[in-house]
Parts: sequence; C-alpha cells; structure tokens
Amino acid sequence: MSLKESYQSFFKIGAAIPARVFENHSVLEHILTEYNSITCENDMKPESLLDAQKNQTEPEKYDKCPAVTFDKIVNYMDFAQNNGPEVRGHTLIWHNQTPRWFFAEGYSVKENAPLANRETMLARMENYIRAVLEYIQQRWPGVIYAWDVVNEAVDNGGLRESLWTQTVGEDFFLYAFRFARKYADNKVSLFYNDYSTFIPWKREAICKHILSPLLKEKLIDGMGMQSHFDMDTDLNEYKDGLFCFGALPLQIQITELDIHNADSSEVSMKLLAEKYETLFRLLLKTVKQKKADITGVTFWGIHDDMSWLTGFRGEKSYPLLFDGQLQPKMAYNAVLQAAHAE
Ligand code: GLA
Repeated sequence: MSLKESYQSFFKIGAAIPARVFENHSVLEHILTEYNSITCENDMKPESLLDAQKNQTEPEKYDKCPAVTFDKIVNYMDFAQNNGPEVRGHTLIWHNQTPRWFFAEGYSVKENAPLANRETMLARMENYIRAVLEYIQQRWPGVIYAWDVVNEAVDNGGLRESLWTQTVGEDFFLYAFRFARKYADNKVSLFYNDYSTFIPWKREAICKHILSPLLKEKLIDGMGMQSHFDMDTDLNEYKDGLFCFGALPLQIQITELDIHNADSSEVSMKLLAEKYETLFRLLLKTVKQKKADITGVTFWGIHDDMSWLTGFRGEKSYPLLFDGQLQPKMAYNAVLQAAHAE
C-alpha cells in the first residue's frame, strides 16, 4: 500500500513539487502512486504570478489592478486536473517571495522608491487575489481545495513588521482573508500558514493576533502548521500545539513537513524513521481521539536530492522518506507502519 492509500480514511497525503518534475515521467508516476495532494514549491507564490514586465512597462494602467501571468502553473494544474491529485494553493499574501516593486509607487524597481499608500495597496491586494482565484477557478474548476491565504505574519510575539504592515497596516491579513472569502469558491478552505507554530509563544501570538480576529468574522477554515523539524524537535511540545489549534473550530493541515538530518548513516536514518513513526502515530491518535480535525499532511519535497534544506542549512540534508534515487528509506516504511499500527 502506498502513503495515500494507507492514510486515505484519515487525511490527504501531499508533496511540494518543483517544476522540473514535469520533465521526468518516472517521478510523475511516483507522485501519482504516493500522493493525492500537491503543492507548487515556488510557482504559485506572488513573485511567480505577478507579471513584472507588464506592470513595469505600463505602471499607470496596472497601478491598482496588477497584471498577473499563469504560465508557470499550467503544468501543475493540468497534471492535477488530468490525473487526480488535488492542489493546495500556496500562497496568496506573504512578505517573502513578493518583489519589492509590487509595494512601490508606480511599481518602481529603484531600491529606495517610495512605497504606495494604503488605498493603493488594498486595491492591489484585492485585485491580485481576485485575478488569481477567478482565473484558476474558471480554467481548472475544483482542482484547488485549500489556499494558504496569508503566510508567516507573526514574529517576536506579535505581527511581523513587513512591507504589508508598512503599506496597509496591521489589519492587512484581515483584508487578505476578506478578499479571499469574497472570490474563492465555496468549497475551497482558507488557511493561515506559519512555521514553528507549536512553540508556546508563537502559538499564543498566532491565536491572539491572527486566528481570533479571523474566527470572529468567520473568514478562516484552517490552520497550516508548516512543520519543518530537526532531529531535536520536541514532539510533546508539538502535540500541545496540535491540540491547542485543534480545539478551535478549524481544520488543521501539516503543510510543509520535513526533518532536517545531515547524517545519512544507517543509525541516523533509523532515528529519522523512528521520529517519523512517532509523529505519524501522534497524528493518527489525534484524529481518532478527535483532538484535531487533521485534513492533510504534506511533505516539503519528494526526495532527499530535491530538498530545499541542503541549500538553507549549508550542508547536505537527508530529511525525507525517499532517497535521491527515489528509493524508499526506512522512514517510508515507518510511516506506513504507523498507519497500520495505530
Ligand atoms: C516557507 C514557505 C515555503 C518554502 C519554505 C522553504 O516555509 O512557506 O513556501 O519557501 O519556507 O522552502
């Protein structure tokens, strides 16, 4: 049994994938066997969908209604539509991987160009969200089942200072969800997504500053716990975080799971497998005891040679369930075993 088959009565199993998989038939077969959800690793982020050339050539025309382009997502969306996996939309509004010129007056690329005012940025935000959702929903109806509406808006115990807070203000995330609610199909679930969500101060800040105002307006359907772990991540603390978000009227999705491990020795890969098994047993128990409505678990990458962690950590990482040849590691069997043991 594959990952998606083993977990099908509980939650979707997904993977984040880069564009280069579309050049490799065997990787695509592998994706279809193991996963029933995919996330574009980078190609659905604002820097990929904003049309730099059009916006910068005719800034007056596009000032309040940014031009967008969908070239980079066609392969993913056609693949999903034709072959079955559904897509997690990632991500509409983020301070990162959104070019500075998008926040500047006249879309200026000058380093210190003045920033656009609140009214302009709210119009840009609404029209960006509208354009992305409407185009995708018309061309590939029903393929996207969830959107990360806002990514990583909390830092240091409060709202993160960013070009969004500097231009729109501290209510920017509320507007993002209001616009997403207005334009998203009814069946699409709207998520807030962040990293280290289980660390107590961060969990509390997310609940206070983001989730409660959104819940009050019924604008949010789910909490995305990214879950970029390392071998020392405390799974008891993680459990507390899971239960805490799970107690809210929200779905929970694990959106970006990986476990950094720079040691590929057999002993170390066995420890990795044990960590994955403990985690998946916890996730299943959580679902069965109704402590959280977990609706999806997505791995951030499909095999070790494709993981972002190697670049990010500055050392080769072996964080996933498959090795660079797409062979299952002990961690893969451990995750399957957890499904049948619990
Ligand atoms: C964050 C983002 C993802 C991705 C990872 C690292 O978690 O949400 O889109 O960029 O960092 O690759």
